[in-house]
Amino acid sequence: MDRVARIEDLRERVAIWRSAGERVALVATMGNLHRGHLVLVSEARKCADRVVASVFVNPLQFGANEDLDAYPRTLEEDQRLLTAEGCDLLFTPTPSLVYPRGQEAQTRVEVPGLSTILCGASRPGHFVGVATVVCKLLNMVQPEVALFGEKDFQQLMVIRRMVEDLDMPVEVIGVPTVREADGLAMSSRNGYLTPEERARAPALNRVLIEAAAALQAGEEPDAVETAARRALSRAGLRPDYVSVRSAADLSQAAPADDALVILAAAYLGRARLIDNLRVTRARP
Ligand code: PAF
Repeated sequence: MDRVARIEDLRERVAIWRSAGERVALVATMGNLHRGHLVLVSEARKCADRVVASVFVNPLQFGANEDLDAYPRTLEEDQRLLTAEGCDLLFTPTPSLVYPRGQEAQTRVEVPGLSTILCGASRPGHFVGVATVVCKLLNMVQPEVALFGEKDFQQLMVIRRMVEDLDMPVEVIGVPTVREADGLAMSSRNGYLTPEERARAPALNRVLIEAAAALQAGEEPDAVETAARRALSRAGLRPDYVSVRSAADLSQAAPADDALVILAAAYLGRARLIDNLRVTRARP
């Protein structure tokens, strides 16, 4: 697997594949890869001839008091894992290459509505940073297909909406969340947990499973959310939000909505964990 940092080198490689009629997939990451990322690469191999992975810790999506400096950077190990997974090209641009005029002067992409609810309410500007960098990466690589994990369900919705609204010629594929044996969704930020916190962390997934069962049993979303927040607190997590939404557009769940998603974020030590579960509500 080759590794390139310059857009010209990236484009040169991709142009050779394209002129041979090959289909290209992009797996965008911030590195510190785990099995969840590698599943994105293996899924990408099923739907494209060539897979480009990017590793770029995007400063634009971190708030002033967030973990940009502490975010784990493990590029050599990432490269080894991607090679073993059959990735064809690793793209590792620097911040000055992605934002040559600096972050303040960068043209930004905003997906209204979807960007300011849930995680966007707790992390102002986060989804503008995500949409902007993903737009840029898609323009740099110009893949036929791009794959993102469903663990970041809101991020996936923001990216899908951006691609649709900006008529970008790329198919966006969501890949189911990869979990540890005890249910904890894989995330680079799990590495921030102490052993004691790690033992508590699967409560997030357990609480979502209980909430899904309650919704299916006919309980009202408000009551389900309140019970889930209490259960998280009892388990030693500090809930940020638990919210039952329409899986189609993340609007508040209406009585007629069958396809729902329960999304949650909670703090545990230095980590802010997120997870979600989709639920199909049975009609009475
Ligand atoms: O999910 C991530 O790792 C990031 O938000 C992404 C999509 C690579 C954009 O920086």
